[in-house]
Amino acid sequence: MAYDLNRFTLKKSMTKQKKDEKFRVNEHIESLVKKFFKDNKITDDFKIEENKNIKSQLITLIEKAVKIEEQLSQKNSLILESIIEDDDVDTTSLSNIILIDFNSKIKSYFKSSVQNDLKLLNLFNDKKIIFFLRQGIVTNIYTELFLMQTRKQLLKKYANSSVLDPNFNKVAVSVIILLAHQCFNNEYIWNISEDEKQDIEKIKLKIEKINKNNTKIPNGLIGLLCCYNNISEYKILLDYFRDKKNDSILNSLIQRQLIEIQEEEEIEKDIKSLTLIDDNISLKVMSQYESNPYPRWLNLTTGSKYKNYFDYIKKTLPKQNLFAKEFQIKNVLIAGCGTGKHPIEVAKIDPTLEITAIDISKPSIAYGIRKSHEFGIKNIRWAQADILKLNEIDKKFDLVESSGVIHHLEDPNKGFLMLDEKLKKGGFMKLGLYARNFRSSYLNDIKKYKNENQFKNDIKSIRKLRLFLINNIENDKYQKLFKIPDIYNSSGFRDLIMHVQEHDFSIEELDKMVSDRYNFLGFFWNKSNSIKANECFEKINPEKSKLNIMNWDSVEKKIPEIFAGMYQFWLQKK
Ligand SMILES: C[S@@+](CC[C@H](N)C(=O)[O-])C[C@H]1O[C@@H](n2cnc3c(N)ncnc32)[C@H](O)[C@@H]1O
Repeated sequence: MAYDLNRFTLKKSMTKQKKDEKFRVNEHIESLVKKFFKDNKITDDFKIEENKNIKSQLITLIEKAVKIEEQLSQKNSLILESIIEDDDVDTTSLSNIILIDFNSKIKSYFKSSVQNDLKLLNLFNDKKIIFFLRQGIVTNIYTELFLMQTRKQLLKKYANSSVLDPNFNKVAVSVIILLAHQCFNNEYIWNISEDEKQDIEKIKLKIEKINKNNTKIPNGLIGLLCCYNNISEYKILLDYFRDKKNDSILNSLIQRQLIEIQEEEEIEKDIKSLTLIDDNISLKVMSQYESNPYPRWLNLTTGSKYKNYFDYIKKTLPKQNLFAKEFQIKNVLIAGCGTGKHPIEVAKIDPTLEITAIDISKPSIAYGIRKSHEFGIKNIRWAQADILKLNEIDKKFDLVESSGVIHHLEDPNKGFLMLDEKLKKGGFMKLGLYARNFRSSYLNDIKKYKNENQFKNDIKSIRKLRLFLINNIENDKYQKLFKIPDIYNSSGFRDLIMHVQEHDFSIEELDKMVSDRYNFLGFFWNKSNSIKANECFEKINPEKSKLNIMNWDSVEKKIPEIFAGMYQFWLQKK
């Protein structure tokens, strides 16, 4: 199989500072590991809370070490393998570690003197990459190009050979199934070349011929079709699975590409509508999220545990001592809940909350309901509703959260006022709104190109526009786009670059929208960006308050990337 090695970044030489840091990190990891294993063995007083904390610390430390060394040590690899499947492990850091490690193995393979198909396929024989390709989405363009090439070569081999070596076939089928999971996860965003289109037709003909003879369709051929589209899109496979029992190796593909999709269709039928939906823009936006429910998430991004939701809010805010008194949070509205990750994470933090999760797109809600069953969540009431019509429901909330939603309304201010109407006096609001500074510097060039070339927003146009980006990856205008995870899956790509309706904001505009009625309680980020943002604020504005939203303007000017994508912030109603 031929690959272009130059596409992989070369290992940089290590500076002294990096070497010292590596030493410190490894020392720290070692002490944590000892504690971790010790805790695991002492079953009598095994403390789950403490254990969770150790796991997230471990992952953060291993991530640091792997970024410095650009590969995973054997010891750290074993640690990861022992905790990888736990559902309380932070998946973002985990993905970073696994991808860096996988890329380093790919590079070693291409540098080695012995290269052959079987050796290449054996790169996939690793518990971590197996887990990741099934559960995650590859968000590194070089890994993606390697995987795309592997898919293409395997397709070519199966389409054009009549007999395959059984040893090769056994290993190849496992890799094909992994690739089929990955392609399903990224919603088939990878480009399909003309050669591949022809080879897919050859595979279909082979399958038809085998089916006519009433013999067993080889798993490799089934898996390859599922690398290019859902099982449910191939009538011949649907008929085949109806009549014949499949091999267990295909179970996971059938579960996700067929059974779960059917489950969502059934769930959707029972979703209640709380409001009318007749606004023109709302209908357009609804149609986008009906065909591309977003985000199609798999795992929760879990972290520390909190006493209750108020405790979580306090700990997320920069000035925790603002709230000496407990505030009772019981009724929560998640407005624009999308595919449910947002309300499910809130529900997990505090199972005593009564959460109402609404969205305009029923398929998105159905995805959320199915996932809530998977995570055993019981405190969410799901319904279809238009934010603009929430006055039709007779209820007020202690907390309203809406992330990435009201900037898709024709007039976001109207949406904000409606959310305000639904919030009790003194209640909390958490909002996420597009940051103009960041978005214009990352997205303006590609949007201009898209508009000039009249791209539509179907999957073929998404692949075509993405291919343009990949072919221009060295161009500064586009290179930075590859840092954005949404670029790596279809619904995310459409949401990011091809949305039917969107607005963005400056800090001054946020101030204008909220300050009359609300106290600003602070922006929030993930942990590492939060440290960076707060340090930068203190350097630029040593005497100023973080609770005056306008004081953040100078910080954004200094590091526009700090509001990556969205301003996310907390408010309290006056
Ligand atoms: C970018 S997604 C964000 C989903 C979710 N908040 C999250 O962070 O994962 C935007 C969601 O807003 C929903 N939405 C857009 N306009 C809406 C409206 N007028 N009323 C209710 N939901 C709306 C869309 O259907 C979509 O699911």
